[in-house]
Order: sequence, then C-alpha cells, then structure tokens
Amino acid sequence: MRAALATAILTGTLPLCLAGDLKPLTLPPPQTDGGKPLMQVLKDRQSTRAFSTEKLTPQVLSNLLWAAWGINRPDGRRTAPSASNRQEIDVYVAAPEGLYVFEAKGHSLRPLLGDDIRAATGTQDFVRDAAVNLVYVADFAKMGQSPQQDKLVYSAADTGFIAENAYLYCASEGLAVVVRASVDRAALAKTMLLRADQQIVLVQSIGYPKK
Ligand SMILES: Cc1cc2nc3c(=O)[nH]c(=O)nc-3n(C[C@H](O)[C@H](O)[C@H](O)COP(=O)(O)O)c2cc1C
Repeated sequence: MRAALATAILTGTLPLCLAGDLKPLTLPPPQTDGGKPLMQVLKDRQSTRAFSTEKLTPQVLSNLLWAAWGINRPDGRRTAPSASNRQEIDVYVAAPEGLYVFEAKGHSLRPLLGDDIRAATGTQDFVRDAAVNLVYVADFAKMGQSPQQDKLVYSAADTGFIAENAYLYCASEGLAVVVRASVDRAALAKTMLLRADQQIVLVQSIGYPKK
C-alpha cells in the first residue's frame, strides 16, 4: 500500500481521495525584478516567530518559491546551487488547504494531500499559524551512488542555500520567517507519505508578521 502510494506521488497520479478537492495550482509568473537592494536585505534578514494567520497572495507565493528554488536559466539551473547540479531538494508546501510539492519546471504546485498538516511540521506552536511551512526534502534517489555521508552533507548544504534565498526574499518583502530543525521527521515523513530514500532536512515557516 505504502509503495503504491509512493509510486502514485512520484508519477503525479495520486488518488483524488488523498488530494481531495485540492487542485494543481499554476502560479502567476514570478516578478523577477524589483525588491530591496541586496545590502539592505542582508541588513534586514532575521528569524521571527510570530505569524499572522493571513494567507500569502498567489503572487507572493510565486515570488517566494522562485526566489528560493526557481529556475533562473534556460538550461533549467536554479536560483540556488546544488552539488553536481543534482537538484535533489524538493520543496513541499504545507498550506491551510493542503500539501503541495513545488514543480520548478512549469512553476506550479502539485497537490498531494487535502489536509492541513502545518501543525505536524514542527514542535513549536507558531507553525500552525504560519501561512506556509516549506518542508525541504532530499530525494536521495537523485544523488546516484554517492556514499551516504556525502548525500547527507550535500543535501544539508543545498537546503541551506535554498532556505537563505527564502530568508532574503522575506527580508525584502517584510515577511516573517524562521528555518527550523525542530520537527519529528519520522512522524512528518509518514504524514507526507515519503519514500524511505526521501529525507526531511529542514522546515521553514513563512507568513505575514503578527501585528
Ligand atoms: C539549522 C538550523 C536549525 C534551526 N532550528 C530552529 C528551530 O527548530 N526552531 C527555531 O525557532 N529556530 C530555529 N533556527 C533559527 C535559529 O534559532 C536562528 O537562526 C538563530 O537564533 C539566529 O537568529 P537569526 O536567524 O535572527 O539571525 C534554526 C536555524 C538553523 C540554521
């Protein structure tokens, strides 16, 4: 059953009963100019942990995901580097309406689960309020025959670059953000129906700041 579900997720043929009414979401094209100057966002980058429950607009979500891990060149390379360009990190988006995975090609969100799993993405209370919790998942199947130690180190480093991109976008937009390791990875992996060779690296809570 678990293997069949994993295959369904991989091939995008997840049964509708799991994704429920959750529809694929084509994001608006990202706004790739504008934003605050780099030195300003470096001055402003910080972690904060008080989130409003307001949802991100589709445009803000689009810009955020592009800044974090979108495609920025015609050959499919991305806004963050990855070891040997394996691009092994998948960004899962836990939103109030359900769980999606970000598809950089096509700049869209593929629905996976029709449940709000935000509370399961961490051990701190604010995670249930944040508009989105981005779950960074390393897909070791994309990392060839590298030794396990290399897979762990490279995927952790690659996640760091993506998370920092998200931090800088949030600093530019005045969004609240914190990257987190405090998560019950085994429980969350089960909830997200991940395969055994997919590893949750970090989670990042993002939303409008609580007034
Ligand atoms: C790998 C890593 C794991 C972290 N885990 C958590 C966490 O579980 N919960 C949390 O509230 N903050 C977490 N943080 C955020 C740090 O506490 C924060 O970056 C640090 O206090 C410095 O604050 P600053 O980001 O505002 O500079 C984590 C940061 C990193 C880099």
